[in-house]
Amino acid sequence: MASSSPSVAVVILAAGRGTRMRSERAKVLHTIAGKAFVLSVLDAGMALGPTRIAVVVGHEAAEVQRVCVEHLMRRGVDIPVAFPLQVDQRGTGDAVRAALPVLEGFEGDVLILCGDVPGLRAETLRTLVARHRVTGATLSLLTATVDDPTGYGRIVRGTDGGLRAIVEDRDLASSERGIREINPGIYCVRLGFLRPALGRLRADNAQREYYLTDIVAAAVEAGEAVEIVPVADAGEVAGINSREDMARMEERVRRELVERWMREGVTLHDPATAYIDEDVRLGSDTEIGPNTQLLGRTSIGRGCRIDGTALLRDATIGDRVHLRLGVVITECEIGDDVVIGPFAHLRPGTILEKGVHIGNFVETKKARLGAGTKANHLTYLGDTDIGSQTNIGAGTITCNYDGFAKHRTVIGDRVQIGSDTQLVAPVSVGDDAYVGAGTTVTQDVPSGSLAVSRTPQRNVAGWVERFRARAAGSKKTPVAKRKPPRVAGRAPRVKAERRGKS
Ligand code: UD1
Ligand code: CA
Repeated sequence: MASSSPSVAVVILAAGRGTRMRSERAKVLHTIAGKAFVLSVLDAGMALGPTRIAVVVGHEAAEVQRVCVEHLMRRGVDIPVAFPLQVDQRGTGDAVRAALPVLEGFEGDVLILCGDVPGLRAETLRTLVARHRVTGATLSLLTATVDDPTGYGRIVRGTDGGLRAIVEDRDLASSERGIREINPGIYCVRLGFLRPALGRLRADNAQREYYLTDIVAAAVEAGEAVEIVPVADAGEVAGINSREDMARMEERVRRELVERWMREGVTLHDPATAYIDEDVRLGSDTEIGPNTQLLGRTSIGRGCRIDGTALLRDATIGDRVHLRLGVVITECEIGDDVVIGPFAHLRPGTILEKGVHIGNFVETKKARLGAGTKANHLTYLGDTDIGSQTNIGAGTITCNYDGFAKHRTVIGDRVQIGSDTQLVAPVSVGDDAYVGAGTTVTQDVPSGSLAVSRTPQRNVAGWVERFRARAAGSKKTPVAKRKPPRVAGRAPRVKAERRGKS
């Protein structure tokens, strides 16, 4: 972590509800590429090596704090992070005020960041702080020039071109409406100025709120040095207020991630339909086909092939794995050289060791399959532990649920499970055992034995001819007038035979 600015403190404003999102959740908990807005801002701030961080919370305070703390713990961050509470959301100025107790005893510059600017890069913050330091400004802020400034505070300059004030969208005079230079809400302020300036804020505006932006005019009026740092790429500092804003940002971040992975040696056959979350890791020479979603903390090794139409969430995939078309994999561990699909569903707790084959229409859940084991067709394997080099025949079902509890099926090494087998758990099949096709396994199968449970087959000679003759006869006679079968007692038996053959 580069510490180019030793005495900077970071304050992140994350207490607002985000009314325009029309959501039950706090705005800053919404995600872009799987990452909550507030975490992207937090990461950008942390990259500057601040001596302390305050995340101001309010709406869903506990949840925002939990998400941040979990993230910090995962990153192993040792910077002290406080979560001051802004009880009523009375504006951005009021929010910074809530953070002041955290800055007690601190001297220096405070970097104030809005929690709803998830595209923000650490590099841009470094530039802001560097300019602030080099010019010796009291207050420095980023600005951006955009095509549609609606909703943003505008940078109002005097006739000499110098900054005069930031005016919120709702408080604009009609002459100011055309201003396209906006305030992204990212500031670096000397604490010695900030503290009293916040004390003097008044809520005399359209929203009856304490605007942080008013400290800018206050600094100008007091003759303090104010530095403007324009950003070249306005998209980076776009604030997310609505679902439309979010979709635009998502597209931008997604494109960046996809380009990054291509630079790292990953082939993307259709970057436009690759959805790769921020925390995903990919090995080089892995090839990704169209319409692939790699989500959460998914990690994929080297030389893998994903044919396409795949959704992986929190999955760990080894090297040289081939995912054929149409797989859904959630919270699974997949070893090297495994082949999965087409059309397979691997649910949480699945562990596939090296070289396992999972074929079409196979579902697994809490299932470990040892090295080289195959389940190639139409199978459900749940709550099961299967050894290595075992073959699971087509249509095998582990009957793991009795309506109350789940039970385990244990299958050994080099086992042959015949097609259309049901394993009624809890049950085990020993090493090298065979289970005959169509068996319902209800008792443990010892190693090396054959288990078979089948009703003996009976062939009824000439049955088809008799059946067809009878069927042809009944077709000519309307149903209501049909005679009862010639030999009434035999009818059910014929039915039973038909069922048995289908
Ligand atoms: C704010 C700026 C505006 C700027 C825009 C950039 C003010 C008055 N306006 O407007 O000039 O162009 O950001 O995106 O600062 N928050 C709190 N407590 C509150 C209110 C807000 O913590 O009482 C937090 C929100 O959670 C959010 C951030 O502050 O993360 C910005 O709040 P928001 O309501 O989105 O401000 P804007 O209207 O976008
Ligand atoms: Ca905003």
